[in-house]
Amino acid sequence: MTDRLSLALSGGIVRLPPEGRVLLLRPPGDLSLDGLPVDRVVVEHGFRPDVDALEARGLTVVPRAEGSFAAAVVFAARAKALSFDLLARACARVGAGGTVIVDGAKTDGVDSVLKRLRGSVPVGEVYSKAHGKCFAFEAPATVPEDWATAPSVAGGFRTAPGVFSADGVDPGSALLAGHLGGLSGSVCDLGAGWGYLSARVLDSDAVRECHLVEAEHAALESARANVTDPRVRFHWADATRFEGGPFDAIVTNPPFHAARKADPDLGRAFVAAAARLLSPRGRLLLVANRHLPYEAALNAAFGEVTVLEDARGYKVIAARRPNRRQA
Ligand SMILES: C[S@@+](CC[C@H](N)C(=O)[O-])C[C@H]1O[C@@H](n2cnc3c(N)ncnc32)[C@H](O)[C@@H]1O
Repeated sequence: MTDRLSLALSGGIVRLPPEGRVLLLRPPGDLSLDGLPVDRVVVEHGFRPDVDALEARGLTVVPRAEGSFAAAVVFAARAKALSFDLLARACARVGAGGTVIVDGAKTDGVDSVLKRLRGSVPVGEVYSKAHGKCFAFEAPATVPEDWATAPSVAGGFRTAPGVFSADGVDPGSALLAGHLGGLSGSVCDLGAGWGYLSARVLDSDAVRECHLVEAEHAALESARANVTDPRVRFHWADATRFEGGPFDAIVTNPPFHAARKADPDLGRAFVAAAARLLSPRGRLLLVANRHLPYEAALNAAFGEVTVLEDARGYKVIAARRPNRRQA
């Protein structure tokens, strides 16, 4: 449970106005709601597992908030570009002089956010707790130009701040792309990001449809701009809970971070989901950093596992004969 904000509110170090809507930008799914006026809170969040967790707790969650708010709370993200993009949006929503509170862990870079903010705006008292910080500032009349990040283009593709491999094609995905030649029928890209692998899947005329399953809304929006083939289907969903298929093939470069922590369990859950979503004769094609421990999960979920390539720090693995009951 993340409760630094609640403690800063109850201690009067940061304050919310007594009325008006309050916008929370990308809070963790387990945020403590103590001290928050839940009936006037709107959450802006694009990461589906957190969206599901926050909605289950009765909060109103939207991928992109519109309109004006009395105050905003920005939760620092691991990617600094994303934190500042959120800060720019928070300022736009509250208007000049409106309250913006920032909460974040050291591991999410809150110290460097504070340092950079201090160069542009006066910052109030800083509350340090639980390896993180919480503080507030008044939104300036003009937000520094370099806070908001315009969608960038990597090799002709659109990407967004904070999405995986926002600056260009991931070398692991590029390696996997060299093994997509024989794909046909209905294919699914689990954790599709901004669409690089799906675009390569669709290079084959034998592919009937390609389903992009991605938890991060901004990444999927980029993918919509990047992959315009009529055979494509987009799903803003948590791949580990996704219902669909059965698919003739699944391609994936699984995530190795759950929320804010490195977590190989998430990649293992992708392997289990792939076995569940494939047809009995279907095939999984996966790429991962060679040190990531997915072998046991692959062997538990599939009858046949083959390393197709081991190069440049990555392994490309093919798996057949999904064991749906095990998955
Ligand atoms: C290693 S990246 C690969 C992205 C893309 N396929 C590529 O090759 O560039 C993993 C992707 O999985 C997404 N992701 C993380 N957790 C997820 C989940 N539970 N369900 C679906 N997608 C998830 C991340 O947002 C990220 O875009």
